[in-house]
Amino acid sequence: MKKKLLDVKDLHVRFSTSRGQLHAVRGIHFSIYEGETVGIVGESGCGKSAAVKALTRLNPRYTTHLEGEVLYEGNNLLNYSEAQMRGVRGKEISMIFQDPMTSLNPTMTIGNQILEGYAQHFPSTPKAKARLTVLEMLRKVGIPFPEERFNAYPHTLSGGMRQRVMIALALACEPKILLADEPTTALDVTIQAQILDLLKFIQKETGTSILLITHDMSVIANVCDRVLVMYAGKIIESASVETLFSHPQHPYTQRLLAAIPRLDQPKDQPLLSIEGAPPNLIHSLKGCSFCPRCREAMTICKQEDPPTFEVKENHLSACLKHDARCIR
Ligand SMILES: Nc1ncnc2c1ncn2[C@@H]1O[C@H](COP(=O)(O)OP(=O)(O)OP(=O)(O)O)[C@@H](O)[C@H]1O
Ligand SMILES: [Mg+2]
Repeated sequence: MKKKLLDVKDLHVRFSTSRGQLHAVRGIHFSIYEGETVGIVGESGCGKSAAVKALTRLNPRYTTHLEGEVLYEGNNLLNYSEAQMRGVRGKEISMIFQDPMTSLNPTMTIGNQILEGYAQHFPSTPKAKARLTVLEMLRKVGIPFPEERFNAYPHTLSGGMRQRVMIALALACEPKILLADEPTTALDVTIQAQILDLLKFIQKETGTSILLITHDMSVIANVCDRVLVMYAGKIIESASVETLFSHPQHPYTQRLLAAIPRLDQPKDQPLLSIEGAPPNLIHSLKGCSFCPRCREAMTICKQEDPPTFEVKENHLSACLKHDARCIR
């Protein structure tokens, strides 16, 4: 039985905005086990980044209200002080983002940036030894000539190389969990494939658990063990990748999968999309939030918020079609 590293219970993220309170994450539950890669997929604006940032409390401090539990080794990170959180970020749980340029310091060499992060968590390590660890890390993420690149500034590197540096920075302190928010979206497809391969390699090598946000189902199929599908601030389906792709249950997941372009599809056939738009998360929502776009919607869907049903072991779907009252 694998160890549960992170247990998220009823997590809510609310942002204060000039138009009122925006309820971006609406009570999500999930866990991450040792050594697994979990994917989060969903349309733009469904709350993926807000949810993942909340795990290490990286949302804007003064306008974000977090509620629920983020249990890491039994402790609720939402109750930690800022100083305690600094001991968790990078050391226990690390994060990489879509655009490495905004996360790297342009005025510091890449080697010194990684060294600084390492020294913060391992202050007693002699500098020469820490430097060797950083060089080893740069080598591991596929940076050629690490000794030379140690002194390079971020702007002198290509986008793919910068993302590799970000990964080295995130992994230097051997965190237990790596949170990756669309790490390959800004890269072209060949580089994207290389970075995904690198994440897979690192996962195998170090056993780090990965939580990977993407809006790309093929990325999920390629790298993840389990997947969480988000819609309007909620997880509406979760299952192993095999199960989700072979037996999707929620109408939204079914439509997402049907929208993937296929090579064997006739060229004149239009690409499928999901008509309509997700709801505005400023409003409180009555009934199922996917109902206005759902072809299978029933009267009850407008009135009742669907609970999560366990359709099979480890396969959850939040759709009222699984409700005993609705099964025909
Ligand atoms: N700091 C913030 N202040 C106010 N609203 C925010 C803030 N961050 C996100 N939001 C809003 O919260 C909702 C969820 O945003 P989030 O960034 O989590 O979406 P996402 O699923 O990551 O989308 P994308 O795929 O485009 O990255 C959106 O309506 C967004 O406008
Ligand atoms: Mg996002």
